[in-house]
Amino acid sequence: MHIALSADAFTAMTDVEPDAVQLGRSWGTASHAFAPSPDLLGLVAPQHIDDWLDCSLLRHPFFAVSLKGSPVPAHETTSPRTVAGQTQVGYIDGAKVRTMIHAGASLKINNLEEWHAPAQRFCRRLSTALSAHVRAVVFTTPADHWGLDVHRDNAHVFVVQVAGTKEWHLYDVPKDDNAWRDGVAQDLNGPGERFVLKPGQALYMPPGQAHRARALKEESVHVSLAVREPRVHETIALVVRQYLAGIPEHRSLSGDQAQRALQVRAALDATADRLRDLDSYEVLKAVERAGYGNR
Ligand SMILES: [Fe+2]
Repeated sequence: MHIALSADAFTAMTDVEPDAVQLGRSWGTASHAFAPSPDLLGLVAPQHIDDWLDCSLLRHPFFAVSLKGSPVPAHETTSPRTVAGQTQVGYIDGAKVRTMIHAGASLKINNLEEWHAPAQRFCRRLSTALSAHVRAVVFTTPADHWGLDVHRDNAHVFVVQVAGTKEWHLYDVPKDDNAWRDGVAQDLNGPGERFVLKPGQALYMPPGQAHRARALKEESVHVSLAVREPRVHETIALVVRQYLAGIPEHRSLSGDQAQRALQVRAALDATADRLRDLDSYEVLKAVERAGYGNR
């Protein structure tokens, strides 16, 4: 279930007031193409990609290359480096990666919020505005190639086109959380919507909306921000874990079946009472602390 948000939550994403209002209304329910703010658009420039390929400490799996939907083994895109007499493997090899991209492979650079300062600042700001975990990745896709197969992501996704042009095919937004999983999507009708994103344009997709994208005439670079709100599942798991910590592991059910069943009943009732008495705001604070502070 998703509930509309105020436009204030999206001031980092766009300077265009009607876009901020529409993002709030569309939250979790519908896609929306919008004009990104300069901060969002400036997170990654094409020059960054070249610099990371040729002059960085980027190491697998902070980047990954895939060809025709299958991961390329790390040793085909990396080289070892020797520092102070110690040899470490897995560092990005720009020449090897470029060769793969020319052969039709896509490059994904992961977790920018952990090591690219502009992305970290922006993701922290967005994380505070939306009370959610925010992760940033960059995709490079060669001209006239599709990225991933049609799939669903278990997060709100914002994509920002940095270079080249990409055509997005968007399918259904699931109405029922029980009716979808993240990953490859099947039984699709559509696509229902198509967006062509040029450099400087952005698109929001709600969790679960099936999609795929294709680079048009030039190599495409886009940034993708995945926003994950706290989950009901992890909230209940946290509460139950905390409750279980107060029950000694060696406490047993004892006696015959009838006596044990009575003890089960008493334990279930005690659990229900304890959970009912919890302060929901305290639980929310605990799950936010545990789950999605950007590190
Ligand atoms: Fe996706």
